[in-house]
Amino acid sequence: MYETTDASALTGAAPPRGVRVDRDDNDNGNDNAFRRDLLAGLSKTPRSIAPKYFYDAEGSALFDRICELPEYYPTRTERHILERHGREMAEVVGPHADIIEFGAGSLEKIRILLHSFGARALPRRYFPIDISAAHLEAAASRLHADYPWLQVRPIAADYMKEAQLSGLDASTGRRVGFFPGSTIGNFDADEAMAFLQLAARVLEGGGLLVGVDLVKDPQTLHRAYNDAQGVTAAFNMNLLRRANAELSADFDLREFGHYAFYDPRKCRIEMHLVSRCAQTVHVAGRDFSFDEGESLHTENSHKFTIEGFRKLAVSAGFRPGPVWTDDAQLFSVHWLESPEGGMGAS
Ligand code: AVJ
Repeated sequence: MYETTDASALTGAAPPRGVRVDRDDNDNGNDNAFRRDLLAGLSKTPRSIAPKYFYDAEGSALFDRICELPEYYPTRTERHILERHGREMAEVVGPHADIIEFGAGSLEKIRILLHSFGARALPRRYFPIDISAAHLEAAASRLHADYPWLQVRPIAADYMKEAQLSGLDASTGRRVGFFPGSTIGNFDADEAMAFLQLAARVLEGGGLLVGVDLVKDPQTLHRAYNDAQGVTAAFNMNLLRRANAELSADFDLREFGHYAFYDPRKCRIEMHLVSRCAQTVHVAGRDFSFDEGESLHTENSHKFTIEGFRKLAVSAGFRPGPVWTDDAQLFSVHWLESPEGGMGAS
């Protein structure tokens, strides 16, 4: 009844059908974007780098370990919400949808959602978009093997760059976005708005299912980013290891430390790599001096109130629908409709 993707297209040496690799500006296909953004980020004050560069193969594996940590409540709480309210979510998604996942990672959460659809309403196509090309291809092959009725069309791209999303041309059905994990919290206000506007455009006539971490007591938040085993620290530090490996940088990993804290006024976790001493580092042939205590800001993770997030969604052109949470209100999953004809249509 359902077309399936040619399995050889997912496992062959060449990029799978549907995987678009932009030769000039792919964030993993070559190191140009990482080099450019790290050099730019080290050249300004305060220093910063976008968190998307955490996710090379090693970083993606470390993130998967973070998701299993006792202190890191978001993943298991969201999973629980998806399991508990999956039927209602399948209802709003509708039958035979094309599901587009932004920043799909290991393609685990879509499996939970897929289990909630009745046999006659199964999604038709699945377009996981992720920056980590190798991780994505392997995960897509596994998913297709487990769900042979689902057309899996991975897109190795930065989902913030619409020009890299031409693989979505193969989506001809009702489009539903899936953006779990509170990745939207990584964006600043302008980026979150830009993403939601892009999503509203791409998903016009359908909608977006989005996971959003909630404001809560600072201790719980602090613990989630300062786990006892030091996995989050290793994840943060991996950025420097990656720079050493890919950009012939010479960061001394013993001379930088993981620092993460919650700023209740900005409603966000900030992660930094802090220099333990005065030192000079070389990256791609350039010198950068750090004072003792100087930091490279590597991530923001914003937390929202339910009402605050719904207002943001409205201003981006969505019509907010049901919201599902856990009993302790740690995490939320929102259904946002993207009306046909765009903002202002009724
Ligand atoms: C995947 C971006 C939502 O911000 O909580 C986990 C990444 N960073 N621990 C988050 C992360 C440190 C995570 N997001």
